[in-house]
Amino acid sequence: MVARENSKLAIVGAGSVGTSIAYAALIRGSARHIALYDINEEKVNAEVLDLAHGSQFTGTADIEGGADLTVIEGAHIVVITAGAKQKPGQTRIDLAAANVEMLRSLMPQLMEHAPNAIYILVTNPCDVLTVAAQQISGLPAQRVFSSGTVLDTSRLRWLLAKRVGVSRQSVHAHIIGEHGDTEFPLWSNASIGLTPITDWGEPGERFTINELDRIAAEVRNAAYRVIEGKGATNYAIGLAAARIIEAILDDEHAVLPVSTVLTDFKGVSGVALSVPCIVSGSGAAPVASTPFSDAELAQFRASAEALRATQNSLGL
Ligand code: LAC
Repeated sequence: MVARENSKLAIVGAGSVGTSIAYAALIRGSARHIALYDINEEKVNAEVLDLAHGSQFTGTADIEGGADLTVIEGAHIVVITAGAKQKPGQTRIDLAAANVEMLRSLMPQLMEHAPNAIYILVTNPCDVLTVAAQQISGLPAQRVFSSGTVLDTSRLRWLLAKRVGVSRQSVHAHIIGEHGDTEFPLWSNASIGLTPITDWGEPGERFTINELDRIAAEVRNAAYRVIEGKGATNYAIGLAAARIIEAILDDEHAVLPVSTVLTDFKGVSGVALSVPCIVSGSGAAPVASTPFSDAELAQFRASAEALRATQNSLGL
């Protein structure tokens, strides 16, 4: 386990997501040394220069990069953002075949240069790619996981906080399951402050089931809306990834909804889904005691079956 001040973060892929993660990590000081890798040498060198030119205004974190995988040598955390990106009208699952193939050649090379790292999949579909990366690398499940629904949970908390006028940090609600179309909120244990979400507010001003369903749909469709308007999402996933990186490097044991390959989690095995996990210097460990209502358990199993169908079609 390395302390943040001696840590090395490698980011694979210098597209909008990878550079946003680098930018967020530089500003937040998420890691001491940041290495950005991409096959496009001109692009990655320009991105590193542009980020380094602003580093006088950030903390002590420094950044380097290049198109030679040796730049990631000895990294403690490797974040994978490379691969085909979602285009308007595409689902994340549409990217699965191409990005699994990309991983089959990339993962062994990464392991050669950073064999002891914790690997975080951001490339989509991040849940399916987590299963592929774990199989290809042979790493224990806790050391190869995805950002999962940490981003979706942040979207949910922003919407709820805006609706009730409280701090986002006082909204305790999680999106779990697939980072994608079958994700859903764990409303049964959502609260604002210490108040269960359905009890918040004066009678007549409280959340109705219809309103909670609308909010859940707005979160589920958020990425499509942003991609439709600007071609990609990047800032929020950059910040979400930086948060996960900090929880690892500070050995926080923070509860975050990242996606790991599950083994008998409420009867679900062999797929990667986001559930509340303890994120620490050892990686991510699902919290088996997380309470689900019967309806939520059914949604969770449906999310698992949807992903298992994709995995089966890809021979995973
Ligand atoms: C999103 C991408 C990261 O949800 O899947 O914005």
